[in-house]
Amino acid sequence: MPKVLDGAAIAAAIKLEVAEDVRALAVHGVRPGLAAVLVGNVAASEIYVRSKVQACADLGIYSDLITPPESVSTDEMLALVDKLNHRNDIDGILIQLPLPKHVDTKALLDAVDPAKDVDGFHPMNAGRLQAGRPALAPCTPAGVIEILRRSGIAMSGQHAVVVGRSDIVGKPAAMLLLHQNATVTICHSKTRDLGEVTRQADILVAAIGRPGFITPEMVKPGATIIDVGINRLTTREEFDRYFAGDAKREAIFSKRGSTIVGDVHPKAFELAGAYTPVPGGVGPLTIAMLMANTVRAARMRREL
Ligand code: GUN
Repeated sequence: MPKVLDGAAIAAAIKLEVAEDVRALAVHGVRPGLAAVLVGNVAASEIYVRSKVQACADLGIYSDLITPPESVSTDEMLALVDKLNHRNDIDGILIQLPLPKHVDTKALLDAVDPAKDVDGFHPMNAGRLQAGRPALAPCTPAGVIEILRRSGIAMSGQHAVVVGRSDIVGKPAAMLLLHQNATVTICHSKTRDLGEVTRQADILVAAIGRPGFITPEMVKPGATIIDVGINRLTTREEFDRYFAGDAKREAIFSKRGSTIVGDVHPKAFELAGAYTPVPGGVGPLTIAMLMANTVRAARMRREL
């Protein structure tokens, strides 16, 4: 039976450590602060940001939730970011993505003070990460490393195959794995004989954003599979493609009218030595690492 890597338990352990760090900072009269910017009414974003604000409250981190309307302009958003850059009570700035199409996302991410860039999306932090300098690293890939590290899964010398090359997950995940001395291959939609490459993986990281994309024949038996995908299934046909005969999922689907599947087909997990489930795998780490980055930013900014 493959080992299930319990992301919720690992995230809880990290949050306990972060809460301890928050108490240590209080001795210096410092309370880390996070500004969470949520534009418009995207349901998924509202849920994520609410969880982030709640996590701040749980850990003693100050948070300021700012909710500009869907109609906000790039210039108005740039002015907001400038204000947050200059606020001394704010150590971390989180702009929840995606933004409305008319807003220039890159211009905004570039405008965030790199010292407050707790998402690790600023090119300065991407460059620092690549150059092996201390950097605020993107939360989801940083969480992937924490899951592997805290589960005692060796990375050094292992072949890690990352499927997906996004700036938010795939690229930084590859860089962080490289820093752990893994041999890293990055694959993407144009990769020839993808299954041939993924079958070589000791550690397979799936971050493609396509439901059940990694099928059993793409997995080396015994591999560790890290599934970063979150894909919502709403039709019976989609449900049956991944979960036919799974009574527990059936109950969730019947009750809510939807369920989520990762980028890995559930049948592929059966071949793994260890894997992160969806939900309850990588997901909880993203928020835990955001909290960790916020406290780190607070410390760095004050040279503590
Ligand atoms: N949207 C989906 N994931 C993320 C994330 O990690 N950070 C931000 N800012 N937006 C997201």
